[in-house]
Amino acid sequence: MGTIVSPVEELAQFAARNSEGDPPTVVVAGCGRGRTVDGLLEHGVDAYGFDISPDALADAETSPDRLEQCDLEDPELVDRLRTSFDVERIDVFYTEQVLSLLAPDVADRVTAQLRADDAVGRCVHRIAPMPPAAAQNGEFDATDRSVSEWKAQCDPDGEDVWLSVGEQFQKSD
Ligand SMILES: C[S@@+](CC[C@H](N)C(=O)[O-])C[C@H]1O[C@@H](n2cnc3c(N)ncnc32)[C@H](O)[C@@H]1O
Repeated sequence: MGTIVSPVEELAQFAARNSEGDPPTVVVAGCGRGRTVDGLLEHGVDAYGFDISPDALADAETSPDRLEQCDLEDPELVDRLRTSFDVERIDVFYTEQVLSLLAPDVADRVTAQLRADDAVGRCVHRIAPMPPAAAQNGEFDATDRSVSEWKAQCDPDGEDVWLSVGEQFQKSD
């Protein structure tokens, strides 16, 4: 019988395997109210998060030192986060159900920039299954694509980890 591991614990284990430092440093992009940041901290990860929405961040229970209001599309994003959080390196950059809120060409550029940045170790992308209700109501744009379509568009060489909601990491990750 296998042991059931929560998604946040799995992410913490992935970060530990893929880190140069101890504890590993993880940044959650589109962290909302900071739930995953809190969970990672409980698993011994040096975790931080950012979101474009000040309202979401204001509702978080996470220490304000660990959260920042930033835009994933900001070309200076990694430098800005390293300065704000006072970290040398980001071992794992985790986009959490946020890429589908970017236009596909923007998501392509953003993920390529992260992959090419020497201060970022691995990137993990969790793709929302469907655009959120607000997008379906036409309040804002979203892109409805499968994980394999996102991967083919943004990361044809398969350097990053791409997961749907509820999907587990591979043992080889
Ligand atoms: C579907 S919610 C996911 C929230 C949280 N990660 C979760 O899984 O529960 C998407 C989040 O991405 C944020 N977001 C949207 N566009 C963003 C951007 N360009 N940069 C940073 N965050 C963004 C939204 O404010 C929202 O909190």
